[in-house]
Formats: sequence, C-alpha cells, structure tokens
Amino acid sequence: MNDNGKQKKYHTITYGCQMNENDTERLAGQLRALGYEEADRPADADVILINTCCVRESAEKKIHGKIGELKRLKAGNPNLIIGVAGCMAQKDRDKLFKRAPHIDFVLGTHNIHQLGGIIAEIGQARGRVLAVWDQAERLAPGVPTIRKNKIAAWLPIMYGCNNFCTYCIVPYVRGRERSRPLEEVVGEAAELAAQGFREITLLGQNVNSYGKDEAGHADFADLLAAVDGVEGIARIRYMTSHPRDMNAKVIDTIRRSRHVCEHFHLPIQAGSDAVLQAMNRGYTAAAYRELVAEIRAAVPGASLTTDIIVGFPGETDEMFADTLALVEEVRFDAAYTFLYSQRSGTPAATMAGQIPLAVKKERLKRLMDLQNDISLDINRGLVGTETEVLVEGESKNDANKMMGRTRANKIVIWDRTGNEQTGDLVTVTIETAQTWVLKGKLA
Ligand code: SAH
Ligand code: SF4
Ligand code: F3S
Repeated sequence: MNDNGKQKKYHTITYGCQMNENDTERLAGQLRALGYEEADRPADADVILINTCCVRESAEKKIHGKIGELKRLKAGNPNLIIGVAGCMAQKDRDKLFKRAPHIDFVLGTHNIHQLGGIIAEIGQARGRVLAVWDQAERLAPGVPTIRKNKIAAWLPIMYGCNNFCTYCIVPYVRGRERSRPLEEVVGEAAELAAQGFREITLLGQNVNSYGKDEAGHADFADLLAAVDGVEGIARIRYMTSHPRDMNAKVIDTIRRSRHVCEHFHLPIQAGSDAVLQAMNRGYTAAAYRELVAEIRAAVPGASLTTDIIVGFPGETDEMFADTLALVEEVRFDAAYTFLYSQRSGTPAATMAGQIPLAVKKERLKRLMDLQNDISLDINRGLVGTETEVLVEGESKNDANKMMGRTRANKIVIWDRTGNEQTGDLVTVTIETAQTWVLKGKLA
C-alpha cells in the first residue's frame, strides 16, 4: 500500500535495444516482489522508471524530453519516485540530477539487481540515490523477471562488449564481456519452455564471442546446440552476430538444428573497406560477401538483415557508393539504417572529416529508397507461398486481424478465423506483400 492506502504501482518506459527491454523486465520483477503492480499510465504510478539508451544523440534527446515531462507529475505528487536506469544513466551519472532535480535515483547498467534496496532506501529517507558501478562486480545475480510478452522471451547469454567499434558508446556503458555459464542459460530456457514460451531470443552485443572471456568455456555453437535440445521451444533466435566472429561451426550448428530460425542478422555497417577499417570492424567487404555466400549455400532460403551507418567521418561519395553497391548485390531482406551520431568519448567523435548533416540525410534517403525497393521485391516473391507463422496475437490496428512472424522474422497479418490461438504455429498463404509486412490467409 502507498501513503494514501492504495495499491502501490509502477510504470516503466524503455528506450534502446532488446538488452534494455530485458533489463526492464528484471527491474519490473523486483518491483513486483516489493508488492507493486503495473500502472498503464505514468500518472497512476508511485514509481516511474525510465530505462535509457545513449547509442545515438536522437535517442538521448527523446529521453531528456520524456524526463522533462515527468516534472509536472512530481509537482502534483511529491511522494512519486522517479528513477533513471540504463545506458544514459551509466554515462551521465549525477549529471542527470543537476539537469533534472526531480529525479530520485540513477541506476547504472551494472546495478540492475539493486533496485529493490534502493526503493526501500528512498522510501525511508527520501534522499537521492546514485548507484552506478564502473564494472560489474560479478555476473548479475538472478533477479525475478516479469515478461509482458507470454510467447517470446529474451534470454541474456552475455553482458558487455569488447569490440570498441570506433563510433560506438556501448562498450563504455555496458562494460567488458561476461558470459553466463551454459548450464544456467539452458536451465533458464527449460524454465521458459515449462512456462509456455514458444520462442527464445538469446541476447548479447556480440553473441559469436560467447564464452571467449573464459578458458574452457562452451562457445556459441555449443550453446545453440544445447538450447536446441530443450523440449517445448519452437523457435530460437539470437542477437547480435558480428560478421567477423560468425564461423562455419555456428552456421553448421544452425543448419542441423531443429529450432534455430533461418534468419541471420549481420550488421555490415558500411560497404567500403576504408570506412570499415576506420570503424575497427575487423572484416572487409569481400569477407562479408564470402560469409553471405557461405550462409546461403549452407542454409538455402535463409533471410538476411543488417545495420548500416551512413556519414561516418571521412566517408566520401565514392565510399558511400560502395555501400549502395553492396546492398544492391547482397539483397538484404531488411536493413536498419542510421545517420552517424557523434558520441563523445569514442574515437570517431574526434576524427577529421565529420560529414555535414544535410549530406548524411541525403545519403540515408538514397540508401533507404534502394533497400525499400529490394525488401518489397523479395517480399513480392513470397506471394502465393505457404509459410509457418508463430501467432503473437491481435493485430495492433484491427481486432479482426491477427499478427505473427515467419521463421525469417517477417511480420504477417491475416483475418482472424477463431481457430488460431496466441502461441500456435499456423500456416499462412501469403497474398499481398509490402515493404515491412506480408498479408495472407490461414491455410
Ligand atoms: N552490438 C550490436 C548492436 C549495437 S547498437 C552490434 O554490434 O550490431 C545497434 C546499431 O546501432 C549498430 O549496429 C550500429 O549500426 C548503430 N550505431 C551504433 N553506434 C552508432 C552511432 N554512434 N551512430 C549511428 N549509429 C550507431
Ligand atoms: Fe558497439 Fe561494435 Fe560492440 Fe556492437 S560490436 S556493441 S557496434 S562496439
Ligand atoms: Fe542503447 Fe544501451 Fe542498447 S546504448 S542500444 S540501450 S546497449
């Protein structure tokens, strides 16, 4: 109960990647353990938690705007506890208090498990709490997890990143790579299966380097094979693969597996070797092309998606043309495209040859136009085919329609028949294709 004798409630707002979504689930789990229930609206909450991202300036701007909005709620309810967690909290620490005096606590990425204690501390003393460790003292201990999605679960297999791509802030805010023991991950996968989850996404900033931080540790292929052995899980996915570390053993394990989806997300970032080298990516465009050929030979019909940054410092028109040429040649199913964003403290932020915003935007538009044409063309090729879809639930915009995903991770929408339940694997005949969505009917 809160001070007004009402049920205590929390509200979470999450920015950034799947890792952050999963961290929010673990933060929510701790609040649930303290007797809080979830509030749909921030105005109904006793605790509001913002889990932040700082990978690009655009994300940070949005978050500062959101934090500013909450000031009004705090003014109306002085007992309201507002906390900022995640990557921006790790980076900016007590600067956040100065910027927004209505914040009660700042929780770093290595301190997720301390939330319960901090809420209790603030409740008693009403002081501010800064909990930001520079390093994880040990692997994050098990904390209760509340998952909103009851069908697909995120399962972290490792934390941190050792790659230091020159544009990227993640290694500074997530620390060095730490892999969880294989038995622990497999045990959690079995628990998720027992709870009725059908899909698991194994999470890490660079899953292909799973286990490399410890001598004698199982590697990523071993882990995939072990999770594939868990009964009851229909689909296994993983995020994110680094093209430099993807190897024949992993590809072969995926080929032979029962449940690992035929979808490869391999961020290329750029198509020019000069840019790739300046980014410290550790592969060439030719090596990437070979990797794609190897995957397509081993796993026919595999879908392929990527991330691309335009306007990295020093990127000339010719270098950018190399990216367009690679995209045209490889034909990704989808690409997540970003304007390069200067992150202070990273090497690229102070490199010569920063690209004007107008040039970056013009390049992004050309890249997106090209990729959209390719995505649509690939999807049109699926019209008339039957495809296995995992039912996720009602379509967001129309209660008469259902929504799910193919093994290739494409979104499919169809008219509800009443015979499909969330969590079922159904067969859908594709009738129309759009750039990001397929539409069809239940076969
Ligand atoms: N560990 C993952 C995800 C990193 S963040 C990986 O290596 O793929 C997700 C994407 O954000 C990256 O793939 C990259 O394309 C993009 N990104 C990272 N830092 C960026 C920056 N400073 N500016 C623009 N895009 C960035
Ligand atoms: Fe960032 Fe590179 Fe690590 Fe991905 S692999 S999180 S892009 S440093
Ligand atoms: Fe953002 Fe942190 Fe993920 S910076 S992309 S939330 S690891």
